[in-house]
Amino acid sequence: MATRVAPPDPADYRRLQAAYQQSLRYAEDVRRLYQQQQRSICQSLLGLANALEAKDAYTRGHSERVAELSRRIAVVVGLEGDDVAAVGEAGLLHDIGKIGVPEPTLRKPGPLSPEEWQAMRRHPMVGAQIVAPFDVFARAAPLIRHHHERWDGSGYPDGLAGHAIPLGARIVAVADVFDALTSTRPYRSAVGREAALAHLLAEAGRTLDEHVVAACVGVLRAGTA
Ligand SMILES: [Fe+2]
Repeated sequence: MATRVAPPDPADYRRLQAAYQQSLRYAEDVRRLYQQQQRSICQSLLGLANALEAKDAYTRGHSERVAELSRRIAVVVGLEGDDVAAVGEAGLLHDIGKIGVPEPTLRKPGPLSPEEWQAMRRHPMVGAQIVAPFDVFARAAPLIRHHHERWDGSGYPDGLAGHAIPLGARIVAVADVFDALTSTRPYRSAVGREAALAHLLAEAGRTLDEHVVAACVGVLRAGTA
């Protein structure tokens, strides 16, 4: 004989519905708080990067320009969503590790001594370590670490070559070289845009990823950056 199932009590159903709605509200609150916290972390680190740049007239605005150009290149090479955002964050924070380099070394107009050069070469690792504790920079941290690697393996800190270098790091590298060339530095004056593009093209397939260089040249020639 089949057992009869009692029809659900409408009061139970309403209580369940109310509990469900409440848990959705809690989840939304947690999500909002998490986003606020992540934004605060981003702003703090940006403040640190800006403070670093503000000390040095030569690099003022460099990180923001590198971030902007990197994002545009990332889109052209086919990255999307969070990957484009990570490339932009890495562009903004790529040199944050220079906070660990003594100021006289940063500002030195002449060639660096071996010890100074050693300190300078640590900045990608220091930068990656600074952002590593924050989940929000999980994608950007390796890009910061590897932004001075070179396509032919002659870069630092790990001497990675070719596709072993994360694509985002290859993008930031190209944008960084272009912006450095077109800005005045303590040790040389700025070169024009066409001369800088010629330099990128000469380095394509040697120290820089040729596909990324092609994308960068396309972005700059199209006048969209
Ligand atoms: Fe750098």
